[in-house]
Amino acid sequence: MKTIVLYVSKMGATKAYAEELAKLVGGDAMPLKKFRWKKGLGAYDCFVFGGWVMGGKIQGIDTFLSHYDEMNDAGKDIIVFSCGMSYPTPEGRKEMISINVLDLYRVRYYQVQGSFDFQKLKFPWSMMMKFTLNKMEADPNLDDNKKALLSFRERPLIVHDEAKIEKIARMIGMIAAERDKKSA
Ligand SMILES: Cc1cc2nc3c(=O)[nH]c(=O)nc-3n(C[C@H](O)[C@H](O)[C@H](O)COP(=O)(O)O)c2cc1C
Repeated sequence: MKTIVLYVSKMGATKAYAEELAKLVGGDAMPLKKFRWKKGLGAYDCFVFGGWVMGGKIQGIDTFLSHYDEMNDAGKDIIVFSCGMSYPTPEGRKEMISINVLDLYRVRYYQVQGSFDFQKLKFPWSMMMKFTLNKMEADPNLDDNKKALLSFRERPLIVHDEAKIEKIARMIGMIAAERDKKSA
């Protein structure tokens, strides 16, 4: 089984995860915008998409899912992971599925925590981040997880969740085994 990991990354965390995952499963990794669907669709059985999170939205997900029917009709397996600074929780996962309307599709979804450094952000991203965090701060129902995010205005968050990438790789291994069984 051949796997491709497509990604949209701004600061490099999602790209690093995508490349690591591709290496673990013996697949390819490529920025989403470089992938040529007409030529490439037939070359892979499993499509993984990883996008960084801005204001709860997985960047690039709409473009990736605009090819959902092509992938689904051709019997591809589809996995999506998001890379954000939020610590993954079941509630956070539900929120991400809802914001990104992932429940409308037959995809497996994983939430991966990435790094974040407010000081390295340039305009207009710094403005947008300030806006996101200020909006969050004003929420009267702020949970502990979101409160923790506010502290990243002052200090960088450095996370590389290798275990989560290994978990996705194991899932891809299971998908490959299923495909082998079916074709035997
Ligand atoms: C403008 C802006 C908005 C962000 N909004 C969120 C968010 O809503 N939720 C979240 O978990 N992370 C958010 N982040 C953090 C990034 O998703 C995180 O830093 C991620 O690791 C970036 O991935 P990249 O290095 O591949 O670009 C935001 C970052 C920026 C710059």
